[in-house]
Amino acid sequence: MKILMVTSEAVPFAKTGGLADAVSALSLALAKEGHDVRIVMPRYYRIDRSKLEALPGPMGVHPGYQEIWTGVYTAKLPGTSVPVYFIDHEQSYGRDGIYGVPGETDFNDNPQRFSLLGHATFQLCRKLEWYPDVIHAHDWAAALPVILLKFNERRGNFAKTASVFTIHNIGYQGVYGKHLYPYTGLSWDHFYAAGFEDWDRMNFLKAGIISADKLTTVSPTYAKEIQHPEFGFRMDGILRYRSGDLTGILNGVDTDTWNPAKDPLIAKTYDSKSLAHKAANKEALQKRMGLPVDPDVPIVGIVTRLTDQKGVSELFGPTYGSAHRICEDIKLQMVVLGAGELWCEHELESLNNALPNFSAYIGYDEGLSHLIEAGSDFFLMPSRYEPCGLNQMYSLIYGTLPIVRKTGGLADTVENYDEKTGAGTGFVLEHLTPQSIYDTVGWAAYAWYNKRDHIEAMRKRGMGLDFGWNVSAKAYEAVYKDALKSLETR
Ligand code: ADP
Ligand code: GLC
Repeated sequence: MKILMVTSEAVPFAKTGGLADAVSALSLALAKEGHDVRIVMPRYYRIDRSKLEALPGPMGVHPGYQEIWTGVYTAKLPGTSVPVYFIDHEQSYGRDGIYGVPGETDFNDNPQRFSLLGHATFQLCRKLEWYPDVIHAHDWAAALPVILLKFNERRGNFAKTASVFTIHNIGYQGVYGKHLYPYTGLSWDHFYAAGFEDWDRMNFLKAGIISADKLTTVSPTYAKEIQHPEFGFRMDGILRYRSGDLTGILNGVDTDTWNPAKDPLIAKTYDSKSLAHKAANKEALQKRMGLPVDPDVPIVGIVTRLTDQKGVSELFGPTYGSAHRICEDIKLQMVVLGAGELWCEHELESLNNALPNFSAYIGYDEGLSHLIEAGSDFFLMPSRYEPCGLNQMYSLIYGTLPIVRKTGGLADTVENYDEKTGAGTGFVLEHLTPQSIYDTVGWAAYAWYNKRDHIEAMRKRGMGLDFGWNVSAKAYEAVYKDALKSLETR
C-alpha cells in the first residue's frame, strides 16, 4: 500500500510531544511490513536545510485566493528508507516555533500556515507522480488534506485515495475566526457541509472528523471517552455519530530509542536480569538534580509538558497542589522535568527553593528524560486525560513503576497493584484530586518500604511487557483496508 502521512511534527525533525514520536515510529513499522510510506510536513526554521536534499524547481500551491511558491526538501527518517518531504516557505515556517512561541502560543496565521500544508500535500504527490492509496493525517494541523480530498480532490489520480484521520489529542482543535476561512481554499458551502462551522467560528478538527473516511485515536479507552461530554471537548456528539468509523489503537514504543539495555543516554545500561544496575542510574540522577545521594529513599520522577491536561494544577497548584505536602510528609525524593505554562514553571521554582527533597529542571532535555526513566523508582502521571501517553510505557520498560490516573491510554497500559497477591504493574488512582494523588504516592512509598518483594516482581513484570509497534501497525493496516473498502461501496 502507498501511504502518505501528513503531520506537523515528526521526530527527529520537530517535536512538541508524543505526536512526533508516534508518527515516525508508526511510519517505520508500516515500512517494515512492506508498505511504501512517506511523510510530509513543514520545514520549520529549526530544520537545517543543509542536511536535506532539495527537490528541483519551485512548487506552486494555490490555497485560497493566492498563489504561493514553495520549495520542497527531502530526507530519510534516520536509519530507515522512509522519505520525509518538507514544504519550505519562508513566510509561513521560517520562524521559531511549530504552533507558536512563549508569549504567542498560537500564531495568528496558523490557519494560513496549515492550509498551505494541506494544499501542498496534493501538489507534492503531483510533483512526485506518486499517488497514495491512503492519506493518513494526524491532529488538527493536518486535517485539511482529508477535507480537501473529500470535497475537491477525489478525482483523477486521487479518485481511489482514502483518508484516515487520527486524533492524538482532542483538546487542540484549531479554532479560528471565520474571516480566515478563505485561506482554506474551500467555498463557503463547505463551511457547513465539511463541518468547519463551530459557533460561527471555524474548527479544523471538527471538519476533519466529519470528512475522513475512517477515524482513529491512540487508545481503546480514549476512543470511548471522547464520545462523552467530559472528555469530548464538545466533539462528543459528532464522534458518537461517527462511532462506527472510529477505532482506538494503542501507540507502541520505539524500542531502539527507549531500551534500558542499550540506552546511550543513561549512566549504566541494564535489563530485567541485571536490575541491580539501575542503582547507578539512581545515583547519577540524584547527583545531576543536586539531591542527597541516598539509595534508601524512593525517587518519584515526572517528565511532562506543564499543561492542565497533565494534572499539574492538582500537583503544583499554589496553596492546594499536593506535591508540597507529599515531599514534606513522605520520605521520598521528587524530580521533575518539564516546560510549559508560566505559572507552573514559577511554582516549580519556588518548590525547588522550599524543599530539600524536591528538584525540578525547567526546560526540554532529551538526555535527562531518559535518566529520569532509568533512575527513578516511580513515575508519576496523574493526567486529567491522556489519549495514549508514552512515558508510562517507557517507565514500565525501564522497571520504574508508573503511578497513573485511570484514564485513556494510562488505563489501557497500567494494571493496578494488588497488595494481597502482589499482582499489577503500577499504582492507579481513580479521581484526579490533590488528595488522591497524595494517597496513591503514599501507598506506593509504603509498598517500597514494606513490600519490596512485590515492588521487584512488579518491575520485572513491566519490563517483560511488549510495546512494539508491530501489533499497532497491523491494526492500522486493517483500518486502511476498511477505508479503501468504504470507497468501493459508496
Ligand atoms: P504528550 O504528547 O501529551 O506530551 P506523551 O506521553 O505522549 O504526552 O509524550 C510526551 C513525550 O515528550 C515523551 O517522549 C516525553 O519524554 C517527552 N517530553 C515531554 N516533556 C519533556 C521535556 N521537558 N524534556 C524532554 N522530553 C519531554
Ligand atoms: C498526544 C497525547 C498523548 C499521546 C500522543 C501520541 O500528544 O496527549 O497522550 O501519547 O499524542 O499519540
